[in-house]
Amino acid sequence: MNAITENIGLFQEVDMANFWMPFTANKQFKAAPRLLKSAKGMYFTTVDGQKILDASAGLWCVNAGHCREEITEAVHQQMMQLDYAPTFQMAHPIAFEAAQVIANLMPKGLDRVFFANSGSEAVDTSLKIALAYHRARGEGQRTRLIGRERGYSGVGFGGISVGGILANRKAFSGALIPGVDHISHTHNLTEMAFSQGQPTWGAHLADDLERLCVLHDPSTIAAVIVEPVAGSTGVLVPPDGYLQRLRDICTKHGILLIFDEVITAFGRLGKATASELFGITPDIITMAKAINNAAIPMSAVAVNRNIHDSIVQAGPAAGIEFFHGYTYSAHPAAAAACLATQTIYRTEKLFDRSASLAPKFEQAIHALRGEPFVKDIRNIGLMGAVELDSRDGAPGTRAYDVFLKCMEKGVLTRFTGDILAFSPPLIINEGQIEEIFATVKKALHEVG
Ligand SMILES: Cc1ncc(COP(=O)(O)O)c(C=O)c1O
Repeated sequence: MNAITENIGLFQEVDMANFWMPFTANKQFKAAPRLLKSAKGMYFTTVDGQKILDASAGLWCVNAGHCREEITEAVHQQMMQLDYAPTFQMAHPIAFEAAQVIANLMPKGLDRVFFANSGSEAVDTSLKIALAYHRARGEGQRTRLIGRERGYSGVGFGGISVGGILANRKAFSGALIPGVDHISHTHNLTEMAFSQGQPTWGAHLADDLERLCVLHDPSTIAAVIVEPVAGSTGVLVPPDGYLQRLRDICTKHGILLIFDEVITAFGRLGKATASELFGITPDIITMAKAINNAAIPMSAVAVNRNIHDSIVQAGPAAGIEFFHGYTYSAHPAAAAACLATQTIYRTEKLFDRSASLAPKFEQAIHALRGEPFVKDIRNIGLMGAVELDSRDGAPGTRAYDVFLKCMEKGVLTRFTGDILAFSPPLIINEGQIEEIFATVKKALHEVG
């Protein structure tokens, strides 16, 4: 029996010092911990027995809802049969099955799948694939990678280099990978505040890529990586026409376009991918999180067959073609969770459910317009954000207080700076959508 999970009283005797918590205000958290003990469906239960409605699908990842028995059972069976098998020069059948299931959900052509264990690893993998591809085709001078301001692409050195969030970069600035540049972000409150779905203004912002092509020469640029909808920075929805323009510029200059779909893949926007929703086919897609309902760490990179073939064919007849991989790539338990999760998505038509709930979600989140401190509301599919005015000299503290109030009232949200973000499991119902935003409204009235 585990004291931490079984009993809050016992828990208080446990020394919390050892676990250095990720992306957490450690001192603040450990002074007043928030501990979850169990979960089912749309709800967490805390160690002291409070039920919490999960408005963020954990970290944008539990799309089929918590503790799905089908997934648990599939993982259990797999662990009993084959707990681990290497995928370096060996393999196991469900790795191939999982790759096939994922490939079938990707836009046409992106049917070669490389597995990793986290979004960060998927991003770094995608960047390495881009470099290897150009080198294989005799364009090894294309080494420059382009990200976007305010982008979040995980925490590997590749990811923070192409990423555009200052706090994630500044302590490591001397060690970022060289030759990276960024296009401007798409956030402009004057032009697009309170847009419902895609803002109509801003397609031209994609032309910033042309500026970088003039500055660096396109023949030095390997790839551009963007989140089709920027998530972690606070849900920035791409302006109408923006992604098409990026696609066109990349095609014109022979630059690979990578969509980082770690958040958007698997139903968040009502389709398997954001690429499908927007009708734009990138060359590479990264995904993680909802790939297997976050039951076991897993991520993947879907690659255009041409890119895969160029790298594989350029390799030796009987030698490794791409020197990259992880001990746990396509781990049997993760692959089993992936297959079970994708079956749930299919049989319960959860992507369609997400699409059909999106109008209700949009109406409910935008009903917060006019409430205290609300300066913008953004949404697409089942993801949205409410941006608040910051307190003078104390940015981020107001959203944190709203987050705490919501938690007290039984709703788990997320916040980044003074932006509250929402991304519930796709099994949510209309009443629960109303409950989330009614709770946020009350919290907004209670914080100063
Ligand atoms: C778009 C995007 N890329 C990459 C990552 C990194 O994923 P992980 O935390 O699994 O490394 C995230 C995480 O939220 C993400 O949102």
